[in-house]
Amino acid sequence: MSYKDQVDLQKLPRHIAVIMDGNGRWAKGKGKLRVFGHHNGVLSVRDVVEGAGELGIQYLTLYTFSAENWNRPKLEVTAIMELLISTLNKEIAKLMKNNVRLNAIGDLDKLPGKCHRELLGAIEKTSGNTGLVLTLALSYGSRDEIVHAARQLAQKVRDGLIQPHEIDEQMFEDNLYTAGIPNPELLIRTSGEYRISNYLLWQIAYAELYFTDKLWPDFRREDLFEAILDYQKRERRFGKTSEQVN
Ligand code: IPE
Ligand code: IPE
Ligand code: MG
Repeated sequence: MSYKDQVDLQKLPRHIAVIMDGNGRWAKGKGKLRVFGHHNGVLSVRDVVEGAGELGIQYLTLYTFSAENWNRPKLEVTAIMELLISTLNKEIAKLMKNNVRLNAIGDLDKLPGKCHRELLGAIEKTSGNTGLVLTLALSYGSRDEIVHAARQLAQKVRDGLIQPHEIDEQMFEDNLYTAGIPNPELLIRTSGEYRISNYLLWQIAYAELYFTDKLWPDFRREDLFEAILDYQKRERRFGKTSEQVN
């Protein structure tokens, strides 16, 4: 039986977040330049987005470019930004066909102008779609996001719109880039690294973590289904005892 057939559709995570890592090592292993890995990583994105839609996952959030990734060699950064533009162009028709709504989180103003415009255009175009919400984390850093939320709240206090004692977890969440999106139940990281790399720190407080050695360009929808199956075998206790949750 395939992994897909074993997935319990009644117990799907609503939101899956992915740290797509290992493009560079994948390319290096084939004697190619890192950029070759990024190009092949796009094929994995396409397949995983389709697989998520096929199952009926509601939210998929992909770590596409981190705030820290700006520190990579200029040539690689430029290549990634160009790849983003060409991919948005190529995939928009398919996103429309599959009823996917595109979204983005991060310090988007840092993106090159053309990239930013292309992204906003694609988001606008898909804004009426009602299927999978595909969020790209771009120029995204979780600490930056938290600081940004704190600043917004401080401004609201200064403007007299809210009182400090009114700030609670819900209000804080509503000021994150991910406002309106439920917290991920499952976080997947590829490439055998066991770290979070400044991704969704607030949001993954109770997420189940799934690590695989597969490098991102080798990851396909079957691997996504396998991760979901693993998630479904776990007991989520949220601080309670096993007896309480059963
Ligand atoms: C992930 O792959 C893609 C981005 C961070 C943009 P890497 O480029 O980090 O690949 P490795 O980790 O060096 O193999
Ligand atoms: C995390 O991968 C960022 C993305 C996948 C976009 P990195 O390769 O940048 O993370 P580190 O440097 O290994 O922590
Ligand atoms: Mg990496």
